[in-house]
Amino acid sequence: MTEWRIESLSRKGKFLLNETMSGPTHDNLIKLALSIRQQAYAPYSKFLVGAAVLTEDGTVFTGTNVENASYGLTICAERVAAAAAVAAGHRKLKAVAVATAGGASPCGACRQFLAEFGGSMDLLLVDADRPENVKQMSLADLLPEQFHLEQ
Ligand code: THU
Repeated sequence: MTEWRIESLSRKGKFLLNETMSGPTHDNLIKLALSIRQQAYAPYSKFLVGAAVLTEDGTVFTGTNVENASYGLTICAERVAAAAAVAAGHRKLKAVAVATAGGASPCGACRQFLAEFGGSMDLLLVDADRPENVKQMSLADLLPEQFHLEQ
């Protein structure tokens, strides 16, 4: 069984998963996205987003959207989580869970950003108000004909 480590945590989160867990299930990824969403910094839009990415070796990184008074500087939750994984040395993402009111899909910029690290990763979109509602799909379905530079 793959070991599942949580590398970035919600301080105030409902789910305190700071111990080593086993079983990188999609359910756990969803719970982490819901939990970290409470840390979102979204004073302008009030639209809270939490994201949790699962790396190839089973490590999980989380992120939230971080807004700015200069609105265009805002960064999305998916990119915060993916960047944290990459900065820690991970290059391959297997899945990402995104928690929002309504279960929104990642924006176009985030789709391309995520595609860099796993063009067919699983996407789990959860409605934070009805967490039993999860839509699952592949990033390849949301972003066909992905742009990659051949290396
Ligand atoms: N947002 C995300 O965090 N992820 C997305 O994929 C779409 C939008 C954030 C950015 C902004 O803080 C708020 O949601 C409203 O656009």
